[in-house]
Amino acid sequence: MAIDIEWRGEFTSRETNVLHAEAFGTRVYDDAEWDWRGLVEQHSLGWVTGRSPGALVGFVNVLWDGLVHAWIQDLMVASVARHQGLGRRLVSTAATGARAAGCEWLHVDFDEALRPFYLEACKFIPTPAGLLRL
Ligand SMILES: CC(C)(COP(=O)(O)OP(=O)(O)OC[C@H]1O[C@@H](n2cnc3c(N)ncnc32)[C@H](O)[C@@H]1OP(=O)(O)O)[C@@H](O)C(=O)NCCC(=O)NCCS
Repeated sequence: MAIDIEWRGEFTSRETNVLHAEAFGTRVYDDAEWDWRGLVEQHSLGWVTGRSPGALVGFVNVLWDGLVHAWIQDLMVASVARHQGLGRRLVSTAATGARAAGCEWLHVDFDEALRPFYLEACKFIPTPAGLLRL
């Protein structure tokens, strides 16, 4: 499958809500509930899109502290596009974008099952981290 990967590429909130529902097993939020476009434009350092002709098949949001730290959120790849290296390339493009903005660190947190993806395929260094349920 030919997929174009782009830093700050075009996407609609609708496409992202459909992809999110498939990737994370949620219902499809409508654009008023989850306005991805408005949110990333206003708050994110950037985002990365993966597009096959006519469809958004990959996405990751890249947040930051405005200076040194960036982190990735909501990495998602459509099932039809998995295990072809797209997830790894989305993360690599996010890292390149964050580095170009002057960031020194890219963070991620993930479930145990994704250790091989993040630590082996994407080369993140394991580090202690914490999480509070709110
Ligand atoms: C996790 C995810 C983004 C991976 O996308 P992908 O495009 O399939 O990943 P890649 O093809 O770049 O994977 C590279 C390697 O990482 C590892 N890997 C990929 N997905 C994995 C998974 N779900 N569990 C464990 N290891 C995985 C494999 O070693 C894989 O190599 P292989 O295809 O030869 O087996 C995708 O499965 C997804 O969207 N999952 C649902 C949403 C999610 O959990 N997102 C992450 C939130 S922290």
